[in-house]
Parts: sequence; C-alpha cells; structure tokens
Amino acid sequence: MKRRLAVLTSGGDAPGMNAAIRSVVRVGTARGLEVVGIRRGYKGLLTGDMFTLSPRDVSNIIQRGGTILKTSRCEEFKTPEGRQRAKAILEQHKIDGLILIGGDGTFRGGDALGKIWSGQIIGVPGTIDNDVYGTDYTIGYDTAINTALDAIDKIRDTADSHDRIFVVEVMGRHSGFIAQAVGVCGGAEEILVPEEPFDLAEVARRIREGRQRGKTSSIIIVAEGEETGGAVKVAQQLAPLAGYDMRVVILGYLQRGGTPTAADRLLATKLGAYAVDLFIQGATGVMAGEVGGILCATPLTETWSKKKPLDKYLTGLQQQLAS
Ligand code: F6P
Repeated sequence: MKRRLAVLTSGGDAPGMNAAIRSVVRVGTARGLEVVGIRRGYKGLLTGDMFTLSPRDVSNIIQRGGTILKTSRCEEFKTPEGRQRAKAILEQHKIDGLILIGGDGTFRGGDALGKIWSGQIIGVPGTIDNDVYGTDYTIGYDTAINTALDAIDKIRDTADSHDRIFVVEVMGRHSGFIAQAVGVCGGAEEILVPEEPFDLAEVARRIREGRQRGKTSSIIIVAEGEETGGAVKVAQQLAPLAGYDMRVVILGYLQRGGTPTAADRLLATKLGAYAVDLFIQGATGVMAGEVGGILCATPLTETWSKKKPLDKYLTGLQQQLAS
C-alpha cells in the first residue's frame, strides 16, 4: 500500500500557495506516494474533508493566486479536544504525514498536533508577512511587496502632482518586512515598523526639514498593527505636529491576492518538493526553508520562537536615502 501524505493550506492565503501544492502533489506522486488534499486548513481536517490529488488535479494552477485547497483560521484546533479529534481523523484516514503550508500560527498548531499524533509533520512557509524564522523568504512575500509597490508608485504620482503627504499602511501583522521593502523600493521618506521604536515629533521634524530642503511631497509607510498604531492614528497625530495635511491609504487585502511572481513560484516549487523529500527521509516537526540559497530544515518551534530580524543595513540607510 502506498504511503499517504496529506497537504493543507492554513492562515492567510499567500500567492504561490498553489505552486507549492502542485509541487507537493507532482513530486510526491512521482516518488510513489498517494497525496491527499485537505480542504480549508485545520477546519477541513476536523471534519475529515479530504480527497486524493492526482497530478492532473493540479494542472493550470501554478500561476493562480489564493489556494485551491482554500484556507481558514480555526479556533477549535487551538483546543486540546480539537487536536485529539484531528489525530483520530488522521488515523482513521491512514495518513502517514501532513504538509502544512502557512505561517507561524499554522506551525504552532502543527507542533501541538505532533505531540499527540505519531505521523510526520512538515511545514512549508506560506505567508505574505515573511515573519518566519528558518527561511530568508516566505512564499507570497515577493508578490505582496510587488503588488504594494505598484500601488505606492501610483500614489506617488498623485502625491507629486498635488504636493501632498500620504501615509500608506501595509500588512505585516507584527513585523515590518513588507513595510521596509516597499518603503525602500518606493522611495518613502519615512518607514514606521514595529521592530524600530519611533518618535512622531522627530518624524514631524524630519518632514518639515525635508520641505525646507525642497521636497514637495512625501510618502510615509506604516506597518499595520498596535505597535505602530496604524496609518489612521499616525496621520491624526502627525499632521498637527508637522503642520501639513495628510492623506491616508490602507492597502489591506489587495496585498494578499494576485498572480505569484516568478520568485514566489520558484520558492514554492522548491520548498514543496523539499518538504516531500523531508517526509521520505523520515523527518518530522520541521519546516522546509531556504537560507542563503541552501535548503534547510528548521524545528517548527524555532520558526516562531526565534525572531527573524529586519535588514539592519537598510534600516541604517533610511535617513540618507530620504535626504
Ligand atoms: O498573516 C497574513 C496577514 O495578511 C497579516 O498581514 C494580517 O495581519 C492578517 O493576515 C489578516 O488576517 P485575516 O485574514 O484573518 O484578516
């Protein structure tokens, strides 16, 4: 009997998840496994919503955003009872291994499941936030920053035409990877992220000084979340301090959709295949990642307990780049 390897996508969808599913299915099948898709992440696992995936079932999806398996955030799976139910269902369906495509929340759930279930659990990092330790990039991040950058370039046209200041909020939950990348690439005057404390009075002073140096418009990038206060709050507090009117744009969910870039398709294809390799090698409780161009397996627990730092070199350059 063939060994059965299940795959699910969980948490926020990310462009390239489909490319990863395709890679798992095709590489897994080619290596003699039966690959089983679970719908709607842990929610579908809890209801046994699963079906065999053949190589033809994943035709024509490498270029599609979202996830054909659908995704969810599942509160029930966070409870010990929920995970006991998941274990029973996996045993009933004779699943030998589970590939989890998602972010840190997904891996926390997978780690907890691994403590009670004897099958192998392998993570694949899929989130636009890039906030997962053990891989330089997560699947979806490259597409998300290119999508956000396209929007910021357009906003800059308007900012320039009207001599205006725009405060633009990008996603990232508790991390500033998206903000830093789009801020640097979009030529932003200020980048406000959770990782770096900032003083709005200082930001206001820099904006005023920029005007004195001849800047007629400015873009301020703000990472979402409580740490920065978000774009609305920043603009409300900053406008009176700086003495200029400000417009707010929240890019929101448009950053999560769309056709994955070549970089995301390549990463997804590699990491999906590598996750299958790890399963065949007998690994469990690890995430397939790529660091410095080398594929590597990192314990799931480290993927969220260790903090991946922002690029400090770029952070140090910001004031000069905005001069
Ligand atoms: O983790 C991806 C992400 O898009 C974050 O950037 C954001 O904070 C969160 O998901 C939004 O979550 P939800 O889809 O539950 O609204």
